[in-house]
Amino acid sequence: MLSTLLSASLFAAVVRAVSFTVGSANGNATSPYQYGLIFEDINHAGDGGVYAELIQNRAFQGDSIFPKNLNYWNPLGGAALSLQNLSTPLSSALPTSMQVTAGNSTGGTIGFSNVGFWGFPVVAGWQYNGSFWVEGALNGNVTIALVSNSNTYYAEASVAVHSSSAWTQYNYTFTPTVSAPNSNNTLNFTFASSSLSGAVNFNLLSLFPPTYKNRPNGNRIDLMDAMAGLYPSFFRAPGGNNVEGLQPPYWWNWTQSLGPLQNRNGYPGTWGYEQTNGLGLIEYMLWAQDLGMEPILALWSGLWLNASSVPQSGIQVYVQAALDELEFLMGDASTTWGALRESLGYGPFQINFVEIGNEDSLLVGSAATYSAYRFQAFYDAVSAAYPNITIIASYYDVNGVTPPDNAAGDIHNYELASQFARQFTLFDNYTSAHPILLGEYAVIAYDAPGVTAVQWNAGAPREFVPVWYSSVGEAVYLLGAERNSDKVIGAAYAPTFQNLNSWAWIPDMIQFDAYPGHTTLSTSYYVVQLLSGTRITENLPITITSGQFGPAYFVAGRNSETGSHIAKFAVYNATANGTSNYPISLSFDGVGPYATGNLTYLNAPMNSTNPIGGNVVTKTVQTVTASRNGTFSFTLPDWTVAILEVGANNAGQGYGYGNPGNRPGWLGPKSWGRDSWNGGGWGNPAQGWHHGYKK
Ligand SMILES: *[C@@H]1O[C@H](CO)[C@@H](O)[C@H](O)[C@H]1NC(C)=O
Ligand SMILES: *[C@@H]1O[C@H](CO)[C@@H](O)[C@H](O)[C@H]1NC(C)=O
Ligand SMILES: *[C@@H]1O[C@H](CO)[C@@H](O)[C@H](O)[C@H]1NC(C)=O
Ligand SMILES: *[C@@H]1O[C@H](CO)[C@@H](O)[C@H](O)[C@H]1NC(C)=O
Ligand SMILES: *[C@@H]1O[C@H](CO)[C@@H](O)[C@H](O)[C@H]1NC(C)=O
Ligand SMILES: *[C@@H]1O[C@H](CO)[C@@H](O)[C@H](O)[C@H]1NC(C)=O
Ligand SMILES: *[C@@H]1O[C@H](CO)[C@@H](O)[C@H](O)[C@H]1NC(C)=O
Ligand SMILES: *[C@@H]1O[C@H](CO)[C@@H](O)[C@H](O)[C@H]1NC(C)=O
Ligand SMILES: *[C@@H]1O[C@H](CO)[C@@H](O)[C@H](O)[C@H]1NC(C)=O
Ligand SMILES: *[C@@H]1O[C@H](CO)[C@@H](O)[C@H](O)[C@H]1NC(C)=O
Ligand SMILES: *[C@@H]1O[C@H](CO)[C@@H](O)[C@H](O)[C@H]1NC(C)=O
Ligand SMILES: *[C@@H]1O[C@H](CO)[C@@H](O)[C@H](O)[C@H]1NC(C)=O
Repeated sequence: MLSTLLSASLFAAVVRAVSFTVGSANGNATSPYQYGLIFEDINHAGDGGVYAELIQNRAFQGDSIFPKNLNYWNPLGGAALSLQNLSTPLSSALPTSMQVTAGNSTGGTIGFSNVGFWGFPVVAGWQYNGSFWVEGALNGNVTIALVSNSNTYYAEASVAVHSSSAWTQYNYTFTPTVSAPNSNNTLNFTFASSSLSGAVNFNLLSLFPPTYKNRPNGNRIDLMDAMAGLYPSFFRAPGGNNVEGLQPPYWWNWTQSLGPLQNRNGYPGTWGYEQTNGLGLIEYMLWAQDLGMEPILALWSGLWLNASSVPQSGIQVYVQAALDELEFLMGDASTTWGALRESLGYGPFQINFVEIGNEDSLLVGSAATYSAYRFQAFYDAVSAAYPNITIIASYYDVNGVTPPDNAAGDIHNYELASQFARQFTLFDNYTSAHPILLGEYAVIAYDAPGVTAVQWNAGAPREFVPVWYSSVGEAVYLLGAERNSDKVIGAAYAPTFQNLNSWAWIPDMIQFDAYPGHTTLSTSYYVVQLLSGTRITENLPITITSGQFGPAYFVAGRNSETGSHIAKFAVYNATANGTSNYPISLSFDGVGPYATGNLTYLNAPMNSTNPIGGNVVTKTVQTVTASRNGTFSFTLPDWTVAILEVGANNAGQGYGYGNPGNRPGWLGPKSWGRDSWNGGGWGNPAQGWHHGYKK
């Protein structure tokens, strides 16, 4: 009892608050990228996700890993369905089609239906555009309808088909006038059995809802809007393991993802399903363009996921494939590959960043081949042909590999919240000349007594979706990266998407299924939205006058576009320090007495998660006024992520704010061979990389 009282009184004597001042010059330079996206076709993020195609198994693609099949198709009215490799296929890329015969039909209507990617969305007013290819003996009307599982017809189109021995494409469109209450709908194709004499073959059956920016073969609007809401500045694609391929000979061969859909074969994705290649190289570029993101193009580095590497004697083929890919994207019409791009109707794209491979240190023996010859072969060829491209190695400095010259590295961190909270100073200690991309990060498991690191064994508990305290842990880590954004290019949560009906990895940033009302932005999403939406373009030095970092972590600086003074905070586990409302006071050099600022903070119960279609994160905005000596004082609740922004016009009495010029270039001209973002070396702002800056 005595000892309890004693320690309680000692505890009460501890100053549980932090005060600091923010200077007006000599901060670290900042990266213009800071927050971005990694995209990989995992969890049906691409096919069945962002890629808006609604028909699953639309072209009967498959290979030795995922054999061709009739999954997701069902016969109607006694029809018989079978896969056929006709002597006259639709195309060499799509050699297999679906044959329909009358089967056991006794007359009347026959046909087939598709169940979609676990249902079809039906939204009033949406114009759906469909198409299919036919060959064979069908003469009559084909009805295509969106039908519910209780036989409600939401939309219907009729196409008069007069098919022949030549493959012919038919298009259709419909616009439902009523929305369905759920996605339990199928797409049914029916016709009179009397219109069929023998067999008819179908292939490449497609249906698109309206797409983002109305792009043909485009992306799902709500998921693109969700990404836009993160103000992303970079886009690493084609992402992650998916670029690598499961085993020889499969790798993400970009040439197979170009042109009309009938020219695209399938690809055995690395996450359990065949991919259509509908989401191809050009589609990735347009996606980056539409969201104002700087592409970080992943080049395959000769490592398969079964741990086999291309031998040194064979690597040049793949180096050439990478050079061809860059020529395809950037070359003018006089180049072989640039001419192909022009023939497809696209002008050149600008590539400023490439990453050589993905996680090349992770498999048995893979780091050895990467450091012995794979990385260098790509590095030498790409830097010789494109000296201005920043090259990123797929990992940093482990197993003795240091990227050469000015190459950057990529760190992937999947951790516990408390680990991230302890890593606020991780990048302070990073002294290498090589910049780093935090290419993938996420808290993936729960903090629990005695658990100090993520357990990777199968069956170890994982968060299903991000939990609020974990999202705050991520925020601490992100602020540590921001204050070192002269060394850290930017960070991306991974994976970005999860289809709730079919996934291989949890947790993820955004959940969805076929029903638009189920799209869910996780608690981690809201953290990035806040931190990314207000950019510090000039970090400024912080002097702590009382207290310390932790449980409140912070970074401060200025936005040179708006002139705002900005401080960002995360309060992680203040309750463990004996207070659930943590007092903070700060002043900015250049911000005077009675200045006013907007304090915006996110908070939620620490163990809460976002339910499907819902949001537990509350956003509070309050005006705070500086004292007579220019100090802002406020408390932040435990488990809070916050931004204080003092606008240039509200900077108080008696002070101007300094000239934002004269700061060092980002990473300096020396290591990067160009001026800072301020000097215009990082691409044209009009093309949108600064899109995320708060206007
Ligand atoms: C036709 O009927 C037979 C006998 O009932 C059945 O075995 C067969 O599966 C049916 N075929 C189709 C295509 O439904
Ligand atoms: C096909 O549909 C058109 C109009 O939708 C109709 O005029 C025609 O009679 C139909 N043909 C058959 C064979 O049912
Ligand atoms: C069907 O639509 C595609 C583009 O979506 C177009 O290229 C094609 O010409 C159309 N076919 C017909 C028969 O209208
Ligand atoms: C929709 O389908 C799901 C399973 O796919 C089922 O759980 C649910 O009850 C269905 N809803 C309705 C209204 O039929
Ligand atoms: C549409 O297809 C589904 C799935 O095969 C089937 O259950 C349903 O009966 C069909 N509806 C109509 C009206 O044909
Ligand atoms: C990529 O695919 C194309 C088209 O199928 C093929 O010709 C080429 O050999 C492949 N490239 C490599 C390096 O495997
Ligand atoms: C590289 O960048 C410099 C400076 O912006 C520019 O003058 C030069 O043309 C660029 N070189 C290439 C090969 O794009
Ligand atoms: C909060 O701090 C307490 C006391 O140090 C610790 O036991 C607990 O694990 C921490 N919680 C988290 C989520 O880090
Ligand atoms: C960074 O270095 C400091 C000083 O050595 C040390 O206290 C801190 O724990 C280090 N940070 C990390 C995350 O290792
Ligand atoms: C600049 O970087 C140094 C070293 O990493 C770090 O200690 C310091 O806090 C950073 N400065 C600011 C203003 O964030
Ligand atoms: C808060 O608690 C943690 C964990 O017990 C401790 O390391 C840290 O020094 C405390 N911070 C303050 C400001 O008391
Ligand atoms: C602060 O909030 C007010 C009211 O929403 C807004 O008009 C003002 O632009 C904000 N200032 C800054 C610097 O964001």
